[in-house]
Amino acid sequence: MGAEKKWLFTLFSATFFSLLLLVFCSISTFGFPKPFPSMIYHGSHYPPSFAYYIFGGHGDKDRILRLLLAVYHPRNHYLLHLDVDASDDERHKLVAAVKAVPVIRSFGNVDVVGKPDRITYMGASNIAAILHAVSILLKLDSGWNWFITLSASDYPLITQDDLSYVFSSFGRDLNFIDHSSDLGWKEAHRFQPIVVDPGLYLARRSQIFHATEKRPMPEAFKIFTGSQWVILSRSFLEYCILGWDNLPRVLLMYFNNVIMSQESYFHSIICNSPEYQNTTVNSDLRYMIWDNPPKMEPHFLNISDYVEMVQSGAAFARQFKKNDPVLDVIDDKILKRGKHRVVPGAWCAGRKSWWMDPCTQWGDVNVLKPGPQGKKFEEVIANLIEDWNSQSNQCK
Ligand SMILES: *[C@@H]1O[C@H](CO)[C@@H](O)[C@H](O)[C@H]1NC(C)=O
Ligand SMILES: *[C@@H]1O[C@H](CO)[C@@H](O)[C@H](O)[C@H]1NC(C)=O
Repeated sequence: MGAEKKWLFTLFSATFFSLLLLVFCSISTFGFPKPFPSMIYHGSHYPPSFAYYIFGGHGDKDRILRLLLAVYHPRNHYLLHLDVDASDDERHKLVAAVKAVPVIRSFGNVDVVGKPDRITYMGASNIAAILHAVSILLKLDSGWNWFITLSASDYPLITQDDLSYVFSSFGRDLNFIDHSSDLGWKEAHRFQPIVVDPGLYLARRSQIFHATEKRPMPEAFKIFTGSQWVILSRSFLEYCILGWDNLPRVLLMYFNNVIMSQESYFHSIICNSPEYQNTTVNSDLRYMIWDNPPKMEPHFLNISDYVEMVQSGAAFARQFKKNDPVLDVIDDKILKRGKHRVVPGAWCAGRKSWWMDPCTQWGDVNVLKPGPQGKKFEEVIANLIEDWNSQSNQCK
């Protein structure tokens, strides 16, 4: 072989191998999910992120999984809790189902409580479980800005891009908590009776029991009460969990013997602490329909409620029966979510088709693309922020 031929041969093989490499590269980028997550940035220049606590009991595995997919975003963190009534088998199946979602496996941002709590209906063990969840989420992830509680019977009415986009329009110290000091019938029926929650010390299922004595209303602090469904800021929860001021701890001990204390615990702390009382926005951002007078739980929502529910501009709604057809309508019309797929957002980089999930590939996860339902939500929030500025219904 002459020198020129040798050179040509080298050039030819180099080109050939480059082409081959290119083909392989394109197959691996377009044909398979990216094996590594894209970088997540937190801080004031980036969209806020959320820590979700989703809980349920025996038989709620599938509902929790569906709800998780409907509120999923790689930037958030999720803690799932099947309480002690559910079997370990159900818990393991939930873990397996979560791990089977490629994006969740890559970002590793969903955890399942392995040592479940016992939760007594109407008892203080509800607060213990929520504080447990907050502590875990604070320890696991230093990036989230707000903590959101959801039960297995809840569902979102906006996408995560909508939520994060609208929440980037105000300070990250605001707390969304429905509250009032107008106790009404609750004074005699909730705060004067003394109850004990056996869920905190017995190993079997039982109900709260009432002491024969009643106690007077507290004088050292004022009681506030409202919806147990809250969206609380990281800074307020650090104040509650770390307890450098004794108020959160004193109230925890007081509310240990109060019926349905999860409707008053955070509400009373926030309104009795001078540093945080100005950070309360008086709404839980949920859509619910109550009887008059209210029963223990709101109505089950169905397709007849769809239009009003969507017009409310709420972020979440409750409560729904398992796989109620209205959830399919919400998936289809609002979330644009396919069956067994996560809710799409600007981070999904794949092509959308009936056979391919666009969220098995991802690009920059720090960008947002709010949709039409986000506009409605934005209006609701703008009105609430106006109320907040006027300080007309905070901690009153
Ligand atoms: C909260 O608002 C009240 C009434 O506007 C004001 O007097 C007080 O200084 C505020 N507290 C803080 C900590 O900003
Ligand atoms: C929806 O629920 C209401 C009661 O909450 C009921 O009257 C109505 O018939 C239900 N609609 C459907 C389509 O099931």
